[in-house]
Amino acid sequence: MNASATKGIVLAGGRNLRLHPATIAVCKQLLPVYDKPMVYYPLTTLMLGGIRDILIVSTPKDTPRLEDLLGDGSQWGMRLSFAVQDEPRGLAHAFIVGRDFIDDDPVALILGDNIFFGSELSRLSQQAIRDNRGATVFTYPVKDPRQFGVLRVDAEGRPVDLEEKPSIPKSNLAVTGLYVYDNEVVSVAESLRPSPRGELEITDLNRVYLKRGLLDVVQFGRGMAWLDTGTPESLLEASQFVQTIEHRQGFKIACPEEVAWRMGWLSDADLVTLADSLAPGDYGNYLRGLAAEGETV
Ligand code: G1P
Repeated sequence: MNASATKGIVLAGGRNLRLHPATIAVCKQLLPVYDKPMVYYPLTTLMLGGIRDILIVSTPKDTPRLEDLLGDGSQWGMRLSFAVQDEPRGLAHAFIVGRDFIDDDPVALILGDNIFFGSELSRLSQQAIRDNRGATVFTYPVKDPRQFGVLRVDAEGRPVDLEEKPSIPKSNLAVTGLYVYDNEVVSVAESLRPSPRGELEITDLNRVYLKRGLLDVVQFGRGMAWLDTGTPESLLEASQFVQTIEHRQGFKIACPEEVAWRMGWLSDADLVTLADSLAPGDYGNYLRGLAAEGETV
């Protein structure tokens, strides 16, 4: 499988009820996480995986706003398209909304509120995209897995059991909101029945791959961060995490201009043009600094 052929979907819909009133007028993926919109974080995670062709799926109200923010992607050397999900019909429904976009290619899905950080992220996601046989999920150990999909693996790290939000979790491995699939995913999603809450569940879809023996697992370890943004507290903590790292190291996390430049999709001159198109300030200065100093890390 070829990383450059794998497409990406960012799912940025949902009602975000736990963040009301902050999300009454705007989806949470447009709220800032410290110094940039939340959607930059999942978007750059896909970019670090080598994915340049990405569909953003959101609500009727928020899709035009996301399009306003992100444009067609050409400024970052990529292709961004947009699709509306009329009402929340479940994470697996994204593959039905995105059927034409996916076409004959494999696809990675990331949830628009998932923030990943770590030096291994790029290598592990590129490898998973390259080696994917059917479906690949990424797990992260958490203290309380009850609010997530939970995966149990055998001694060799192979998946044996997958449950959505179990009251008694069989392991501490939460399934994160990053997934890689072969092209079969569209027909698997179409074959799913809505769950009792009326949604096409990503865990049901992953269970189909598990039954077929085609579910692979990448375990993110303690050197990685996977952050929540679902409540006012976790959103603030995510902002503080990003602020702490950025101030300490002087690097920005999830800066699409920088990632596109490091991936070789933009030249130094492109980066300066982008910096000049932004209002004067820290973010543009950072991009100009990168272009002037060249790659230092
Ligand atoms: C969804 C998935 C769950 C996964 C989580 C990751 O849950 O259903 O399996 O662990 O995303 O963020 P949600 O957050 O939509 O309740």
